[in-house]
Amino acid sequence: MDKNEFQEKLVSKTKELDQIISSFLPKEEGPQKKVIEAMNYSVMAGGKRLRPMLMWETFRMCGGEGDVIRPFLAAIEMIHTYSLVHDDLPAMDNDAYRRGRRTTWYVYGDAFGILAGDGLLNLAFETALQAFGQGAAEAGVAGPGKAQAEDPGRIARAISVLAAKAGIHGMIGGQTADILAENGDGPLTKEQLLFIHENKTAALIQAAMTIGAILAGAGEEQVQLLEKCAYNIGIAFQIQDDILDVTGSLEELGKPIGSDAASNKQTYVTLEGLKKAKKDVERLSEEAVELLDSFAAGHEFLRELILMLIHRCR
Ligand code: IPE
Ligand code: IPE
Ligand code: MG
Ligand code: MG
Ligand code: MG
Repeated sequence: MDKNEFQEKLVSKTKELDQIISSFLPKEEGPQKKVIEAMNYSVMAGGKRLRPMLMWETFRMCGGEGDVIRPFLAAIEMIHTYSLVHDDLPAMDNDAYRRGRRTTWYVYGDAFGILAGDGLLNLAFETALQAFGQGAAEAGVAGPGKAQAEDPGRIARAISVLAAKAGIHGMIGGQTADILAENGDGPLTKEQLLFIHENKTAALIQAAMTIGAILAGAGEEQVQLLEKCAYNIGIAFQIQDDILDVTGSLEELGKPIGSDAASNKQTYVTLEGLKKAKKDVERLSEEAVELLDSFAAGHEFLRELILMLIHRCR
């Protein structure tokens, strides 16, 4: 796949994901209109849609078919977006820009930043639970072949992965360690920093890829291999995020640079230096691709996507 073809596919897949995600968002009405507006403002600000993209590509690669994946594509983006809305709060990273616009708390106030995040987290699970109805709906239209994609056991497992990877032993656990490390006593060890990166960032990427595999009916060995692959992608992704906080620009990133230094964060860059950080992004990403190549075919786009992330500037 050449560069142009990849770019075109990336744009069209992102657009399709935007449409799917927005189809699960609530109407802005009723006494709770303001919190819904704040939720929709955050989700529809854009973003790379990386997690749902990884989920969908993994689902396809593992032979998944049908609409069972759709609610999960929206759900993971809702959880990711909620994590950003809370991450930007004054009590956390205190950032005023995100996805090229003012952060949710900045526009709607702190209370609605908190409530919009809470709202998105709950909506994510309400949305994922809709997967139970998808197969039946499809069977009515498309015959029994497609309905096969809906397997209650798989859906239940996928929801439990989503809950665990977003929770105290996943994203929230990583955010906890991240905040505790601000102004902590002394430098972090590499192990401590990797704990933060694994949990605050890699966990949701692992959720994305393993859910794609589980819903497609992949075997246990495949699911585990994909979890390892997603670990590499996730750590590389957060290292690159730390790099861009130093070398990027607000225009390209859509969020402020220098945020980590302003919050006294220790990052992969402060610990290892820029040069080693860049090298490790490359190494981890290449390892991820090797893992994928070892067991699958028909994942050219996914492969290119992982490699593209090495040089991303947003
Ligand atoms: C930002 O994630 C937070 C990190 C885990 C580094 P993304 O860089 O995927 O943010 P969006 O979704 O594109 O805005
Ligand atoms: C955040 O890491 C990871 C989340 C769980 C939101 P960062 O705090 O480095 O993310 P950015 O740089 O604000 O996007
Ligand atoms: Mg943070
Ligand atoms: Mg932040
Ligand atoms: Mg960052």
